[in-house]
Amino acid sequence: MNVRDSEAVEALMLAAGHEKAASEEDAELVVVNSCTVRQKAEEKAVGKAGNLIAAKKVVGLMGCAVKRMGADVFKRLPKLDFAVGPRAFGLIPRIVAEGRYPRLELGEDAVPEGMDAHVEGGWQAFVTLLLGCDNRCSYCIVPDVRGHEYSRPAREVVAEVAALARRGVKEVCLLGQSVLRYGMRNKAWDDADAPSPGGYTEPFPRLLEALSAIDGIERIRFTSAHPKGCTDELVRAYAEFPKVCRHLHLPVQSGSDRVLAEMGRRYTRAEYLAAVAKLRALDPEFAVTTDVIVGYPGETEEDFEATRSLMEEAGFDNSFVFKYSPRPGTRSAALPDDVPTAEKERRDQVLLADQEARGLARNERLVGTVREVLSEGPSKRNAARWSGRDGGNRIVVWEIGDSPRPAPGEKVRVRIASAHAQILVGETASIKSNNTTAVAASLCRETRRRGDAGRALTTC
Ligand code: 5AD
Ligand code: SF4
Repeated sequence: MNVRDSEAVEALMLAAGHEKAASEEDAELVVVNSCTVRQKAEEKAVGKAGNLIAAKKVVGLMGCAVKRMGADVFKRLPKLDFAVGPRAFGLIPRIVAEGRYPRLELGEDAVPEGMDAHVEGGWQAFVTLLLGCDNRCSYCIVPDVRGHEYSRPAREVVAEVAALARRGVKEVCLLGQSVLRYGMRNKAWDDADAPSPGGYTEPFPRLLEALSAIDGIERIRFTSAHPKGCTDELVRAYAEFPKVCRHLHLPVQSGSDRVLAEMGRRYTRAEYLAAVAKLRALDPEFAVTTDVIVGYPGETEEDFEATRSLMEEAGFDNSFVFKYSPRPGTRSAALPDDVPTAEKERRDQVLLADQEARGLARNERLVGTVREVLSEGPSKRNAARWSGRDGGNRIVVWEIGDSPRPAPGEKVRVRIASAHAQILVGETASIKSNNTTAVAASLCRETRRRGDAGRALTTC
């Protein structure tokens, strides 16, 4: 979300006539985007802004930490030039043009100006779908800093994605704290909008249908989700629209019913697992990823073991583990933060090790299959390899050899030869479009090298 908001600010600043600096040192003005979801994230952003101020630049701070601190931000950073809340970033070009510092704009529940501003170029784009959150999970500061939930009108989102497609974007990722609540708190579809051709009645699946119809868009992703939103219509949309990637980031936070109730997550372990089962019934390779918090106040060894076993039962393809961090003003901040730091660390490590083993086992099931990958470019670790992602958001790398270099965003079919916990390694690749000759040549070389004609022919 912050990456997207920063991109919008960049686009707005460029439109206002500024230039992007070649490096941080070169910049006259730097805007630091901040997060306050955990204490450490906030400290990092404030520390960074402090260093830039020391380097005598014009410095602005935007994002969630600004909203949390309010006017106190100028006590932490007395020489900060301006600070804007997460729903006020559209004001930055005007603030800079006016140059009257210090300046604070919190934005409250505003719908930011320039939310559809994008930087030219690139084949992937984030699109903000919902602002804020009304869930109020006990540990979470997001509702206090990002304001009430608001769904953008469908017509606006469809227009934004169509404009991106015209600029060459092939993959969009729709963003919201809880994207499956799209159109629930406020109406997203207007009575004047054309009815859903497939008879979709729920606002989010209906949006997936509309976005799927946009030429040039090849992949649609979205994040984050809540199990309550895993409805039959959502599953039907996954089944009917091949552009909708079969990957869902479904934060679980805990596997203990007692902790889930304390957190106010509004589902039980069984309900969560039922949502995962529904997705995997459609497709056993459906990728499900999650967020987990370890060391929530009062989390016992038994609660922790329940989280471990839930993660195993759900068969997560990937997971992000966070050590509980009390946030001011949240309900759980009133509870004693009683799991010692060393124990939080231990639980974190245990879940990471579990995930390594589980990720490997899940990826090994894909060895021998052919994955459809959108190419990203040379692998960062090994320039002889190319890298991309499959629909499940799995990283796929393959030897590029003499075969044609796929352009960024080009669709490539890769046969998987081996698996690691976080990466699939391919043996051969074929570009889907019109490079058949070149691919056949590279396969023949591969065949001679490995003396495995039968297998290579199947690949062809
Ligand atoms: N402490 C630790 N992790 C947190 N998260 C949200 N609030 C906290 C907190 N107070 C995690 C949740 C959420 C992810 C974005 O950050 O797991 O899904
Ligand atoms: Fe925070 Fe819960 Fe909203 Fe996610 S759903 S942003 S965890 S309050």
